[in-house]
Amino acid sequence: MSADGFSGGPPPGVRPDWTIDQGWDSYSQAEHDVWITLYERQAKVLQNRACDEFLRGLDALDLHRTGIPDFNRINDELQRLTGWSVVAVPGLVPDDVFFDHLANRRFPAGQFIRKPNELDYLQEPDVFHDVFGHVPMLTDPVFADYMQAYGKGGQRALGLGRLANLARLYWYTVEFGLMATPAGLRIYGAGIVSSRTESIFALEDPSPNRIGFDLERVMRTPYRIDDFQQVYFVIPSIQTLQEVTLRDFSALYERLAGAGDIGIAEIVSADQVLTRGTQAYANAGGRLASAAG
Ligand code: PHE
Ligand code: FE
Repeated sequence: MSADGFSGGPPPGVRPDWTIDQGWDSYSQAEHDVWITLYERQAKVLQNRACDEFLRGLDALDLHRTGIPDFNRINDELQRLTGWSVVAVPGLVPDDVFFDHLANRRFPAGQFIRKPNELDYLQEPDVFHDVFGHVPMLTDPVFADYMQAYGKGGQRALGLGRLANLARLYWYTVEFGLMATPAGLRIYGAGIVSSRTESIFALEDPSPNRIGFDLERVMRTPYRIDDFQQVYFVIPSIQTLQEVTLRDFSALYERLAGAGDIGIAEIVSADQVLTRGTQAYANAGGRLASAAG
């Protein structure tokens, strides 16, 4: 994620592109143990909850071998699979810096890890959220292209003053996206897969709305950063997400400049509200795909 605004310069000791060394040799055993605890918990919770693309990526990167992964090691595999790499940054970086990294297939990741007493909640993304949550999806070629396109789109939105709208797309896909698959509803968003409680809530709790993904609708919907989501948007496939976002957003941005926001828990008449149940979700995948195409 990124902090608001354009960059001044990086703090002392940080490179001009805001990267730092991961410092893998400096992690303590206690820090590696936090990773292992979180990894083992999530690996269990995510069986039949995360989408196949995520689970395949998790296997491909072998993220549990030695505790906190050495970025150099995962980058060899990631480079080979999709040409992406992970770079370490000191927490949130300015928007323009963040987009420049994505546009060049580099994912900026925090290198610190949460304390053992904050396994379930933390304010700033740590290495577990950034690497366990985000990096497996970057092994999928279509998602990898989507993330790079988002970086370029971010640079453009900054220039056009529409970043507030575009950031919602990131939030409701990259961070909190759900997918309707033939096997049922699945998670692909990093903010969900890196949280045990939200992994269960997002799929199983009756309270949040689950709505078929519509680009303009998503860009009109604010989000909350301090609690579970009240609304999730459901894509039929990564391929569809990529196709829908390939087109030029200029006309959309112009419409959005005149359109109001939609309340976070509101349902509007055009919404495809998904009802619960495995078969219902499986059917929804087909319906959403034909609606998007
Ligand atoms: N198509 C978008 C534009 O014209 C760029 C973009 C692609 C944004 C993918 C997000 C994701 O600005
Ligand atoms: Fe994130």
